[in-house]
Amino acid sequence: MKILGESIKKDFPIFNDSKLIYLDNASTTQKPKQVLDAILSMYNETNANVHRALYDIGSAATERFEDSRKKIAAFINASTEKEIIFTSGTTESVNLISHTLGNSLGPDDEVLVSEMEHHANLVPWQMACERTGSTLKFIPLTEEGELDLNEPEKYFTPSTKIISITHVSNVLGTVNPIKKIAKMAKDIGAIFIVDGAQGVPHQIVDVENLGCDFYAFSGHKMLGPTGIGVLWGKMDILQSMSPFMGGGEMINSVSMQTSTWNDVPYKFEAGTPNYVQAVGLGAAVDYLSSFGMEKVKDHENELTQYALDRITQLKGIKIFGSPMHRSSVISFNMEGIHAHDLAQFLNEDNIAIRVGHHCAQPLLTSLNQNSVARLSVYVYNDSSDIDKFCRSLSNIRKYF
Ligand code: ALA
Repeated sequence: MKILGESIKKDFPIFNDSKLIYLDNASTTQKPKQVLDAILSMYNETNANVHRALYDIGSAATERFEDSRKKIAAFINASTEKEIIFTSGTTESVNLISHTLGNSLGPDDEVLVSEMEHHANLVPWQMACERTGSTLKFIPLTEEGELDLNEPEKYFTPSTKIISITHVSNVLGTVNPIKKIAKMAKDIGAIFIVDGAQGVPHQIVDVENLGCDFYAFSGHKMLGPTGIGVLWGKMDILQSMSPFMGGGEMINSVSMQTSTWNDVPYKFEAGTPNYVQAVGLGAAVDYLSSFGMEKVKDHENELTQYALDRITQLKGIKIFGSPMHRSSVISFNMEGIHAHDLAQFLNEDNIAIRVGHHCAQPLLTSLNQNSVARLSVYVYNDSSDIDKFCRSLSNIRKYF
């Protein structure tokens, strides 16, 4: 915990001269000055529209934008940067596929998700099934909060055309066996999409090795800016797909009645892209890479285990999920205290956590809960943050 945690907090202006204990990292993360500087320098020094402006700052902006695409490709081991499509975030990435490949589904087809999906990887599929008459199926969960893959033939059928599963549950912290599911998807010839919003920020993600067809994630959950995300996809599938949105730069030629499409990835990037945010995300990737994702993962695992050990010593705490492989998320409730009251009391001690249904209402319903409290750590958190959090929880207990 020496390399990360307290020693890097100085890189994050929001923590300067502040008592903030920020434990809501699964919602969004704080930004290091390296990312903020990259954003400011884009606006201050090289602000011009990318791929259009034939003057010096235009070329510089385009170069910085495309460099960022290369960095992100290397970060997730994509075979070419052309497989990196910039979107506004995971939600748009999933919607891109559900409105392209999703639209070619038919009434005999099935889409398979799981009972732990975030609404971003559920609602777009509900809508696609509604449009096309296809059927939405769910992989159930075990008591521990893992995917129940014991009777695969019930869910992985010859009719399954699209499988879309989260890499890591934003409520239970469960890290799902993506490689295993990729193999099961391949065996039945289904397209396999991974919602990596809670995956890429916390561990090494090697898309080639995982064996999926698409991997979606958001910049703001990995120290980058809001409004930028990524859809990685296999080149041959991307080439065969229709565009999602129409507009500037996604075309090859346009006549009054019809148009032809630009190459991948530009075919999927209609309009002015969020190029400043894309450069900011490149800076976030540089920052995380300076530690290495193995260290990030070890730090978070150690801290999450520390938090679990401390929290379970407190009276009346119920933790949701006990997966074998857990990421940096712990959801819990305190007996006799509504999660929203808990958040307010913690806030009085400058401690930020999220409470609510976490955009995973079907999962919360299956847990018989309307609202749970969630603690989620990241690179700048340290054991002292957890100690303060637990002290505050004990005081709340005493108060009630
Ligand atoms: N998806 C984010 C969360 O889990 C917003 O909090």
